[in-house]
Amino acid sequence: LAAFNKDFTDFRYLHFPDAARGRGWLSAILNTVATTNETEDFNEQFSLARRAFGRDPSITTVRCGVSLTFEGLVTVASKPDQVKKDLATFKAFCDGAAARAEKLGDTGESAPENWLFGAGAGDKAVHAVLIVAADTEELLKEKLKNLDTVEQTHQITRVHVDEGRTLTGDLRGHEHFGYKDGISQPGVKDFHREDAGRKGFRDNHAGAELIEPGEFVFGYRSEQGDRKAPAWMKDGSLQVVRRLRQDVAGWNKAVVDGVKDFTGTMDATRLGACLVGRAKDGTPLAPAVSAVTGLGSDRNDFDYVNDPTGLHTPWVAHIRRTHPRAFAGINDNKPKSHRLMRRGIPYGPQFAGGPDDGKDRGLMFVCYGTSLEQQFELVQQHWSNSDTFPPGKSEPDRVVANGFDKVTGLAGKAAIELADGTHGTVDMKRFVRTTGALYAFTPSISTLRLLAEGKDLPNKSIGS
Ligand code: HEM
Repeated sequence: LAAFNKDFTDFRYLHFPDAARGRGWLSAILNTVATTNETEDFNEQFSLARRAFGRDPSITTVRCGVSLTFEGLVTVASKPDQVKKDLATFKAFCDGAAARAEKLGDTGESAPENWLFGAGAGDKAVHAVLIVAADTEELLKEKLKNLDTVEQTHQITRVHVDEGRTLTGDLRGHEHFGYKDGISQPGVKDFHREDAGRKGFRDNHAGAELIEPGEFVFGYRSEQGDRKAPAWMKDGSLQVVRRLRQDVAGWNKAVVDGVKDFTGTMDATRLGACLVGRAKDGTPLAPAVSAVTGLGSDRNDFDYVNDPTGLHTPWVAHIRRTHPRAFAGINDNKPKSHRLMRRGIPYGPQFAGGPDDGKDRGLMFVCYGTSLEQQFELVQQHWSNSDTFPPGKSEPDRVVANGFDKVTGLAGKAAIELADGTHGTVDMKRFVRTTGALYAFTPSISTLRLLAEGKDLPNKSIGS
């Protein structure tokens, strides 16, 4: 629920040689795992100081998060068969990201055989993901040195390491294509304060709808009462990690070349914004819900009700595909059951412009929730990768359907028709490819402790 929000974030994908060494490692790192409360307290203190002094305060910390894959849990659990039984209804999690690749569009260059982690067997199987996030490079290095020693002591091996780094200069807070990221997040009932003037929305974050906590953390009320879990999952979340390589030169060229397929007022900047749904500085194409209050300080107070056919934010736009807001219920009437708590962190060197430099850069896409199937997978498969979404949008006389999400979806054509009469078809290949992916479970500290001590896990059913 509380983001680490650090400029330096390493991801270590670890393999346990056996149960004893896995448990030993867990015991050793247990005290270092950040709690939600301390993280949220720090974030509050940080925002208060920023508001008071008008710049970032110089308070610094390191935060660690740990999650276990299905194989990791089964390796360290005292009763592996019981854990497998407890997880029987969590099919995507048990199968793992590589087994789900085809239905998610992770094919061709993005297929698991090309992944750096998440598809390996034997000593290449990932059991744990350790996220180490720090405000400064020095703090990160110091922490990593300690963690190296713990890994060596317990003979834990590393399958892969990623170095997430906030971009700098004008690109600070932006992803590699140049668009501001990390703007829209769900609000969480009983965790975030409600706006007294607008029921159902988060205070100070206009447009952030409050969602039941059980959508993101096990053991609490969910939107549909469908997020039941064994008691040992209480206060934990399922985690998606995707290493998404971005071809920035390719994207830049495609939005320049794509302009020729439009009539009206189109240029590369506008076409790029149409594909994302926001301009590079984060300004949305969507008109605000209220003309008086506007988009709010987060520039997030819009719901597309005033734009059903996509004349402002085309249906192809990444932010509309992944969070259709008021139209989310089109498929199943459960608009609040498909939200993602996202943590996107760029990796790799900043792109300097010009032709492709061949360097590996992209986004560490991480999200949390209590259903991989209803949240991440539904968004990726049925919204981003489906050219019939939303249903009913492709009138019979139209030759080109809504197309796919051009940021994270499949290649193919998409029609764009804007309010000023500008219209055309965009046809682009994929400029984001998956180079690693896994599903993991982020347990509560008490469950981590039971696992570390080799004790039995409580498995009465919880949640509603
Ligand atoms: C390299 C890959 C990606 C890039 C460059 C990217 C870029 C962006 C940008 C620029 C925004 C707008 C900022 C904001 O509203 O916070 C955004 C929002 C969002 N993205 Fe992505 N994204 C990527 C991958 C993904 C994936 C894999 C998913 C899920 C399947 C996803 C889901 C979302 C969601 C749910 C939002 C918020 C939409 C809203 O609430 O309006 N993104 N992304």
